[in-house]
Amino acid sequence: MPGAEGTWATSYHAPVFVDEVVRVLAGARRVLDGTLGGGGHAAALLARGGSVDAVDRDPDAVASASARLAGAAAAGRFRAYAGNFAQLDAVAPLRDIHYDGVLLDLGLSSHQIDATDRGFSFRPGARLDMRMEGPGSPQRDATEWLADATETELADAFRSYGDEPRSARLAREVVRRRAREPFTTSDDLVRAIRGALGARTGPGDFARLFQAVRIAVNDELGALATALPELRDRLHPGGHFVVISYHSGEDRLVKDAFREWSRSCTCPPRQPRCTCGGRALGALEHRRPLVPGPDEVLRNPRARSAKLRTWRRAA
Ligand SMILES: C[S@@+](CC[C@H](N)C(=O)[O-])C[C@H]1O[C@@H](n2cnc3c(N)ncnc32)[C@H](O)[C@@H]1O
Repeated sequence: MPGAEGTWATSYHAPVFVDEVVRVLAGARRVLDGTLGGGGHAAALLARGGSVDAVDRDPDAVASASARLAGAAAAGRFRAYAGNFAQLDAVAPLRDIHYDGVLLDLGLSSHQIDATDRGFSFRPGARLDMRMEGPGSPQRDATEWLADATETELADAFRSYGDEPRSARLAREVVRRRAREPFTTSDDLVRAIRGALGARTGPGDFARLFQAVRIAVNDELGALATALPELRDRLHPGGHFVVISYHSGEDRLVKDAFREWSRSCTCPPRQPRCTCGGRALGALEHRRPLVPGPDEVLRNPRARSAKLRTWRRAA
């Protein structure tokens, strides 16, 4: 990425689906980027004109992307704040503002994955932190979640967020091990996974199950479910909602919400005749999600599991 500044420069990847995002939001004068990250999408959107307001749960991301986009900020076209897209009203300067486009590019940034001290990866010796708000945050971290979650909560997370068929067995193993010694580093979780699922488990399993813990620690699906209708209501008539997700649970929430908002009738399905006189809130822009082609995956391996869905608010 030309002109990249700061310590994040080495970890910039091409933003996922950047051409498609810019195309869908081409006519949007004011865009909300709810997941600023390294500022790649924001930079591409600013390059085509208009203005971008942005938030990110991670204050480091906000600082770094703000340095990168200082020129646009000085011109009054860009502003960024630390905040959760599910609590946009808590970001005072953005309260009551409406947008022509809203973008969510969910999950983690490359920088967060690469930074060993953030504890998202299973690299040996990494402290299990995993808080998107960063190590200084008052939120509970992964060590606390692994210490406090009930066996049922652990099993639910491993199954729902990590697609683990032997989730109950892994949950039992975590409970057994934490009674002897608390989990503090990536090695503790890797050993529990190996202990429960066998020595043949490898990086793919660790990635999947570390992801499950991360999603639970940050309540990522809860944040998305809360945010979807709130961000929809921040759109001007005719405004576009673009969401890129990397996990089946996230994609399901987005798919169901976009479909629900696109139905013209809200009567119960068994009711023989429509009595609601309903008008759809908007329409799907693509019937099926966009998935990356081989070029996109080559440019950015993170794009492998990405799905992009777009919805347009009725004019
Ligand atoms: C995939 S990265 C975004 C990359 C960005 N689109 C770019 O082009 O550089 C996802 C970012 O979303 C942030 N994030 C995830 N959930 C969030 C939430 N609920 N509210 C605000 N930011 C969130 C993460 O901290 C991370 O920086």
